[in-house]
Formats: sequence, structure tokens, C-alpha cells
Amino acid sequence: MRIRIFGSPDQLAHALARSIAGRVAANAGLVLGLPTGDTPVPLYRELVALYRARRIDFSQTTTFNLDEFDGLGAGDSCSYRAFMQRHLFDHVNVPSRQIQFLDGRAADRAAECERYERAIQRRGGIDLQVLGLGANGHVGFNEPAVALTAATHRTRLTPATRRANARWFGNQVSEVPRHALSMGIATILHSRHIVLLATGARKAGCVARMINGPITTRLPASLLHVHPAVEVWIDRAAAVNLSRG
Ligand code: GLP
Repeated sequence: MRIRIFGSPDQLAHALARSIAGRVAANAGLVLGLPTGDTPVPLYRELVALYRARRIDFSQTTTFNLDEFDGLGAGDSCSYRAFMQRHLFDHVNVPSRQIQFLDGRAADRAAECERYERAIQRRGGIDLQVLGLGANGHVGFNEPAVALTAATHRTRLTPATRRANARWFGNQVSEVPRHALSMGIATILHSRHIVLLATGARKAGCVARMINGPITTRLPASLLHVHPAVEVWIDRAAAVNLSRG
């Protein structure tokens, strides 16, 4: 795992947006995996700024988002799809047919998960997967468990994750869906490159456990150690528990 520590979340976002612009310039047909959450918001702001400055062109780019709440679709303002529209897709030129999303309202959720796996494969796999980090160590919605599901699947959310997501639902935990659809841990690990983002003191404990190991399904992000091209981009606040020297 290559670790990069930045002075602030904005500095991290500034650098990552430029790194992504470089990748898109080198490979216009880049397939990008994207997360939701507060952490990537500065990154999306920077990408929109680069697009407005004509320094990035997403016209050939395909995106796959990591996850979606079960029962929510593009029309629901609390859906991750709506979040992505607000923060990125409404402001840049990714053609809508190249924006791939799990449909939390699909009549057959299992078939929807299989469709997503096939869609990723048809596009030749994910070139760069950007990840956030749940405070309990989840990636996407792969929650800590005795065993993890490999492929895209419907999953039950832990009470901690429902509480953490209540902010998107007027702070009403009872409104947060009990299930979600998510890329599986193998779906994520098949990406060619992975950049995991974590910022703020709230993530410091989890970041240290992820980096120091052990590798365990009880901390799904620790599985990233087995991937040959993972970078962990964090700010100083999230790095405070890492041993120095
Ligand atoms: C949700 C998402 C994750 C995300 C996590 C962290 O649970 N499913 O993909 O990484 O939140 O969110 P935040 O960046 O707001 O801390």
C-alpha cells in the first residue's frame, strides 16, 4: 500500500483531480469507479472546476458507482444516484449512457447485480476505482462480517452504517433503508488501480487498523493489502494514529 498524506482535504482533492485528469488525457475511454459520501465531495468540486477550465473532457469516460440504497432510484433525492448528479454529473460532460449505476428499484435486485457485473466486464473492467472508507472499515457497502461476498450483491446494512448515513435522510435513522446494493469485494479488487480516500480525525482509528493489519473480513478495507496497485490518500487528521518513522 502506498500512503500519501496531505495537509488538508482540499489539497488532497486538488492533487487527485489533476491525477484523474492526467489519466483521462492518456486514456480517453477510462473506466472510473466512484464513491459517494462527504469525503469525495471536494474531489468532485475540483473535477467540475477542471472541466469548466477545459482541462478535462469526460466525453469518452465511463463511470460505475460503487453502491446504491435498496429501494431508491434516480428520482429519489436521498439516492446515491441523485447525490452524484448534484455533485458531479449535472456539471460535467459524462454522457448519460456512460453513467452506470445500480438501480435500487429494479424489480429483480439479484438480476440487477448480475447485470452490473456484466456491464463492468463488457467495458473491460474498472481502470481506476476511487473508494471512501466507512468508519467501521467498510468499502462500498461491504460491511464487516465473518465472510465477504465476492460479486455485486444486495446486503444488509449494520446499525452503525445506517446511523452514519442518517445525515442524507434528515437525520432520521428510521428513514435509512435497511439494505443496499453494492459492488462486492472481488469486484473492487479486480480494478486495475485503487485509490482509497480518508480524511478527518473520525477516520484516524480505522485508517491505522487498515494499514497496520491484520487483514481481516472484520475490517473489509484491510483486504486492499492483497491488491498490487493500491494507494491510500489521507489528510493529516486521518494520519494521526499512524506510527512515525
Ligand atoms: C457510505 C458509502 C461508502 C462511503 C462511506 C463513507 O457508507 N456506502 O462508500 O465510503 O459512506 O462516507 P463519508 O465519506 O461520508 O465518511
